[in-house]
Amino acid sequence: MSKEKFLRFPDGFIWGAATSAYQIEGAWNEDGKGPSIWDTFCRIPGKIRNGDTGDVAADHYHRWEEDVEIMAELGLKAYRFSIAWTRIFPEGTGEVNRKGLDFYSRLVDKLLAHGIEPFVNLYHWDLPQALQDKGGWPNRDTVYAFAHYAETVARELGDRVSFWITNNEPFVAAIIGHLTGEHAPGLQDPVAAFAAVHHLLLSHGLAVQAIRASTSRKPEVGIVLNLHPVHPASSSEEDQLAARRLDGVINRMFLDPVFFGKYPEDMMELLGFFFPEIRQGDMETISIPIDFLGINYYTRTVARFDPEFPLIQASQVHPEGNEYSQMWEIYPPGIYEIVMRVWKDYKPASIFITENGVPVPDGVDFDGKVRDERRIRYLHNHLVYLHKAISEGAHVRGYLVWSLLDNFEWAYGYSMRFGLVYVDYPTQKRIIKESGRWYARVIKENGVPCLG
Ligand code: GCO
Repeated sequence: MSKEKFLRFPDGFIWGAATSAYQIEGAWNEDGKGPSIWDTFCRIPGKIRNGDTGDVAADHYHRWEEDVEIMAELGLKAYRFSIAWTRIFPEGTGEVNRKGLDFYSRLVDKLLAHGIEPFVNLYHWDLPQALQDKGGWPNRDTVYAFAHYAETVARELGDRVSFWITNNEPFVAAIIGHLTGEHAPGLQDPVAAFAAVHHLLLSHGLAVQAIRASTSRKPEVGIVLNLHPVHPASSSEEDQLAARRLDGVINRMFLDPVFFGKYPEDMMELLGFFFPEIRQGDMETISIPIDFLGINYYTRTVARFDPEFPLIQASQVHPEGNEYSQMWEIYPPGIYEIVMRVWKDYKPASIFITENGVPVPDGVDFDGKVRDERRIRYLHNHLVYLHKAISEGAHVRGYLVWSLLDNFEWAYGYSMRFGLVYVDYPTQKRIIKESGRWYARVIKENGVPCLG
């Protein structure tokens, strides 16, 4: 019988969970909130599975106190949430909406009262529609509107918030929103997409400056990137080169500017034509030193040479052999691979896993329990590999499960459940799933058992 080991995480390791405004809040037009590009996008027929919208979502805007109580019951040490820009500036700029600031201020106070560290994310894709109407992220003016928004929120919350995130997954906001068109604003325009890449990264740099200048305490500021290990589908040179190109688009086009102050040469050779004007000082702004890198890890990418695929001639394949969820291959070693690569190649001051989780078609059993063993297995196995990275020297300071609550999964609508807490949408009843109970034990014991 193999001896069971216990994988203990470092003292002070920050265990938490993550959400985002559009995915959980609802109250899409309440208390002065203006429309975002996701409010608009959801109303275009065919864009969202089952015609779902974030109009109500998990009704967190009205149930936030109950939700914080659940976080406390789970023993969370941190909670990552995003601010809806359109609650603060309904038109993106101009008159501040006091009711919007008050909502987040009360949320922060209640979190702190329960000893839960707020991780405030300023942008999780919900650009004000009014700014989209003026060109959106492809318009450089949006960068300056974002910096003003960041300064305004930091002035309001900076006396109590220690951890700030400027942007969530600029790759998704720029490429999925402006090139594939599967996300808001639903464009398929490479010039718009790579202008959005540059301006989202520039907005990150300006927001770091704005946050640090607007808070009385020494805040820690970072950016959140969705990163994937990219493996070639075969050992052929063309598949290996295809993997390198896909690695460039997904990973290096964001990591290199933030940590090296320049775009990867191979990417600029391939895609530079589509980039906007890169002004004097832009790259210095983008590469302003940050206190942590947030990594969202879900799965790896396997790439093959695909001469039909535009621009990068590489497409993703789905290899046999591993378990798959409703969305992706389940590949726990990938969290170790990507953390060690980033730690060695980019040397961030520190790392947080800011998202890791899995959709499971959860149901409520006759006894009212939600037995999501697959989610427990997914989280456990990823924590085992994360522990391996930490034991090999990567300075990972915390782990935030995606997600606290079942929520609106973008183009999939409510068909995907990621929560540690089940949401019965018709009644908005919350049920802590078995994975939530399991995670509460992980937090309490500061680690996970692992067969030796
Ligand atoms: C992302 C987003 C989340 C998603 C989650 C599951 O990483 O895509 O940050 O909003 O809901 O990742 O896809």
